[in-house]
Amino acid sequence: MSTDTAAPTGLPSPYALSPEARELLFTEARTAFKFTDDPVSDEQLRAVWDLFKWAPTASNVNPLRVLYVRTPEAKERLLPLLAPPNQPKSASAPVVAVLAMDTGFTEYLPTLFPAIPQLKDAFEANPALREENASFNSALQAAYFLLAVRAVGLAAGPMKGFDAKGVDEEFFPDGRWRSILVVNIGTPAEDAWAARLPRLEYEQTVRLI
Ligand SMILES: Cc1cc2nc3c(=O)[nH]c(=O)nc-3n(C[C@H](O)[C@H](O)[C@H](O)COP(=O)(O)O)c2cc1C
Repeated sequence: MSTDTAAPTGLPSPYALSPEARELLFTEARTAFKFTDDPVSDEQLRAVWDLFKWAPTASNVNPLRVLYVRTPEAKERLLPLLAPPNQPKSASAPVVAVLAMDTGFTEYLPTLFPAIPQLKDAFEANPALREENASFNSALQAAYFLLAVRAVGLAAGPMKGFDAKGVDEEFFPDGRWRSILVVNIGTPAEDAWAARLPRLEYEQTVRLI
């Protein structure tokens, strides 16, 4: 079975996104681990947020929160909390995002999902459901965040290798936000990555019935 997904030459693309946009977001995008000194502006950081916020979450709960770490002083606080192999990667990034889930996300539900006013109380009465919902939807939004970084023309380097408890104590001492992922952001340096790793085949990952 053919796994070729390219549009036939000379015919209009069957995809909504142009080939260039698909390359930017998926097929040519890479996880960067080394960055140039090019700064990342406030406007770019806001543009990332202005994209990922639109992607869907269950009951529109939107539990993801973002701490952008950009000053040298703030990065000094973060670097020792990363796994040693990850420290030089974040040291080279002009901005590092600490993605977190807001355990108090229910506060905003009356605004975010007004159609069901009792939703806030229902979540707050069921800690297991609240935890599962925040955990799943913040991970979903973290993926949207990575694509939004790419969409504004920057490279992202997600990293799970860090001391989450230490990060929470250092940056979120009131306990409401809980870190889930660190993402290096910037312009990739020339040797920003190793060879592309393989992916599974369509037949290995998809069943069609
Ligand atoms: C949730 C997540 C956690 C990751 N954690 C780390 C990490 O701690 N250290 C690291 O070097 N790479 C980490 N990576 C990078 C992955 O290994 C990389 O994205 C994957 O191999 C795909 O690489 P590519 O985008 O260049 O094809 C992580 C990626 C994701 C999505």
